[in-house]
Amino acid sequence: MASSLFLLYYIILCFSFECLSVSYSQILLLPLTHSLSQNQFNSTQHLLKSTATRSAARFHRSRSDRNRHSQVSLPLSSGSDYTLSLTVGTNPPQSISLYMDTGSDLVWFPCSPFECILCEGKYDPKTTNKPLKIPPNATVSCKSPACSAAHSSLSSSNLCAIARCPLESIEISDCSSFSCPPFYYAYADGSLIARLHKYRLSIPMSSPSLVLHNFTFGCAHSALGEPIGVAGFGRGLLSLPAQLSSFSPQLGNRFSYCLVSHSFDSDRVRRPSPLILGRYEEKEKRVGDDGAQFVYTSMLDNPKHPYFYSVGLVGISVGKKNILAPEFLHGVDATGNGGMVVDSGTTFTMLPSSLYNSLVAEFDQRVGRVHERARDIEDKTGLSPCYYYNKVIQIPNLTLHFVGNESGVLLPRRNYFYEFLDGGDGSGKKRNVGCLMLMNGGDEKELTGGPGATLGNYQQQGFEVVYDLAKRRVGFARRECASLWDSLNQR
Ligand SMILES: *[C@@H]1O[C@H](CO)[C@@H](O)[C@H](O)[C@H]1NC(C)=O
Ligand SMILES: *[C@@H]1O[C@H](CO)[C@@H](O)[C@H](O)[C@H]1NC(C)=O
Ligand SMILES: *[C@@H]1O[C@H](CO)[C@@H](O)[C@H](O)[C@H]1NC(C)=O
Ligand SMILES: *[C@@H]1O[C@H](CO)[C@@H](O)[C@H](O)[C@H]1NC(C)=O
Ligand SMILES: *[C@@H]1O[C@H](CO)[C@@H](O)[C@H](O)[C@H]1NC(C)=O
Repeated sequence: MASSLFLLYYIILCFSFECLSVSYSQILLLPLTHSLSQNQFNSTQHLLKSTATRSAARFHRSRSDRNRHSQVSLPLSSGSDYTLSLTVGTNPPQSISLYMDTGSDLVWFPCSPFECILCEGKYDPKTTNKPLKIPPNATVSCKSPACSAAHSSLSSSNLCAIARCPLESIEISDCSSFSCPPFYYAYADGSLIARLHKYRLSIPMSSPSLVLHNFTFGCAHSALGEPIGVAGFGRGLLSLPAQLSSFSPQLGNRFSYCLVSHSFDSDRVRRPSPLILGRYEEKEKRVGDDGAQFVYTSMLDNPKHPYFYSVGLVGISVGKKNILAPEFLHGVDATGNGGMVVDSGTTFTMLPSSLYNSLVAEFDQRVGRVHERARDIEDKTGLSPCYYYNKVIQIPNLTLHFVGNESGVLLPRRNYFYEFLDGGDGSGKKRNVGCLMLMNGGDEKELTGGPGATLGNYQQQGFEVVYDLAKRRVGFARRECASLWDSLNQR
């Protein structure tokens, strides 16, 4: 798949990093691939249920404080996984495809030798990455900030002691030759042990190729139920944008993606979703879209989960009725409690019970008055409410209201209401059914110590979502994502 580097103002013809870092308006356009592994699912209900379960599991995991990294991406092989291709090493270059995840801050993948326990059926051995070969000397020192970052900010002295650096060397800070000890990551349904390495990573492009010579990543040699790997785009030191920005601030300080709407239809996901590293000028934004403006909201700091992109949510409108979000969604407190995480690695949006229940009550008052509730479908899909209907169903508009912009983000209907044919698999009577695709994340008490809500990637489809790290804000603008890809790529 083509990907391109654009230098909007300066045509610079040297291809090394030094040259790139002096230009001002540049972007790197990369394709995100969305695969729907439909063969894993025997029905739409089954697909939805699995996706709903995984969204909930990741959300609940996100507040666990046993391990700083326990929030790390829960792979979404079921419904919505967006992958990014990278190349590692030179001789020969090895390609790898990773989940693009704004909810975690480390890039990691399986390295040879690799043992994956309970991984049967979790991936397709024909298309999944082969474990990469990384030279044994491509290590990271126990003294490095990267090592501390991977070890939940444990001090270098501790880490070097674990790496068996002798005390006298620790005292004189002379442990550089000792490598960073392995670390453990836990998922809701998997885990792994990885080591930090530093090696050449390139972001594949036709020509020239963008090369990061000393890119730091985790190499997993053993994993439980987790065979793929993740490209962390979160706010930490080790994330891909953070490492990119130390070479080229222009490329690393801002990124956006535009997820092509798929509605779980595999024909629609053939088009790549653009991932845009770097900024492009406001006037350039007119390419391939309706020129819609970004609605911005500030990024909030989360002392306990610093890698999350948290924002404040003030309410959600159902039609003209505005439902206020509980106070703790407006901001994040000193204990890391509250706010809404904008996450590319969760499928369905999770809301605290109070907001979810009010929203559903309002929704059901409008839709349920006219249409029969489909309780059996709710059981089968894990989504609620669902309704049967004949030909058409009127659905109220939903608008998200973030802190700082009262006008809000109006969601396209297909971002929150999924319509399908029940019995379409040949079992029983065929009926049209539609379900609200927002989920109940539990009550406020259960949510203490972590985010109060997550904005899932399903609800982000058809928007360009920008993470402006320099101005510390997140923005949303309606886009035709497939045409945005085409027009940026033709430039
Ligand atoms: C589909 O698979 C799920 C889980 O494997 C199973 O519980 C369900 O009964 C299956 N449904 C059909 C219609 O085969
Ligand atoms: C690792 O070993 C290779 C070949 O043995 C050598 O070319 C390379 O410079 C070494 N790298 C480091 C960081 O020592
Ligand atoms: C990569 O790291 C090695 C060892 O720390 C250093 O010698 C080399 O100059 C670095 N390369 C680049 C391009 O920064
Ligand atoms: C909210 O966003 C819209 C669309 O970008 C913009 O026109 C408006 O000025 C913003 N309002 C505030 C208060 O920032
Ligand atoms: C939803 O919002 C759009 C855009 O503001 C508006 O044109 C449409 O009439 C609204 N639909 C309903 C059912 O209120």
